[in-house]
Amino acid sequence: MTHAEVATAPRLAPPPLPVRTERLLLRYITAADLDALRYYMDPEVCRYLPFPPADEAALADRVARMAERLAPSEPDDVLALAVVHDGVLVGDVMLRLRTRTDDQSPPSVAEVGWAFAPAYAGRGFATEAARALIALAFDHYPLHRLYANLDPRNERSAALCKRLGMTLEAHLRQDWPEADGTWSDSAVYGLLREEWARG
Ligand SMILES: CC(C)(COP(=O)(O)OP(=O)(O)OC[C@H]1O[C@@H](n2cnc3c(N)ncnc32)[C@H](O)[C@@H]1OP(=O)(O)O)[C@@H](O)C(=O)NCCC(=O)NCCS
Repeated sequence: MTHAEVATAPRLAPPPLPVRTERLLLRYITAADLDALRYYMDPEVCRYLPFPPADEAALADRVARMAERLAPSEPDDVLALAVVHDGVLVGDVMLRLRTRTDDQSPPSVAEVGWAFAPAYAGRGFATEAARALIALAFDHYPLHRLYANLDPRNERSAALCKRLGMTLEAHLRQDWPEADGTWSDSAVYGLLREEWARG
């Protein structure tokens, strides 16, 4: 191999979708989901998300980006999925590929995230969808570890991580810069493949 022919990791296949669970369907997001994703305009939903509540332009931009991320393969590629119950989009979950050991290897660490419409909170939909996302992540991608990064004040998200069997691994002090110039803490919850496989 010459210098010009530097080996790169082969592209990963698209995940097998849709995924069905007892009550939910996880599928790709499309531009037609824009109205259902209006919860990203709700200040309460966005209170602990790393971006402000969307206005119309930001929502359109966000949905367009969610809809185009179909086959993650490289670090920072995202898989964004709509969570549908009885034909209604109730939330979304995302998987962001992160670290890999070298240029020839696929990512082996990924981040998970979630947001649900307040009208559908408290029914276990986020738990059921996140479990399905984690199963998809470990079944389809050669991942060693998943993690969630959240504001420790986000009690509902922290409770969700615990229901998912994730371990609180770190509490980082004042590592997130807020728009108003203050700093927020971050919590890291992790799940290793071997822990997930043990159930
Ligand atoms: C984080 C978030 C997804 C959690 O939502 P949630 O409604 O608390 O989670 P679930 O849908 O899994 O529901 C769990 C609740 O339903 C109850 N429940 C009812 N039926 C259930 C079932 N079949 N399975 C599991 N739980 C069930 C649980 O007991 C729990 O109740 P509790 O809140 O009184 O303890 C939601 O708060 C959210 O979207 N927040 C805004 C966005 C955000 O902050 N995202 C995270 C950024 S890190």
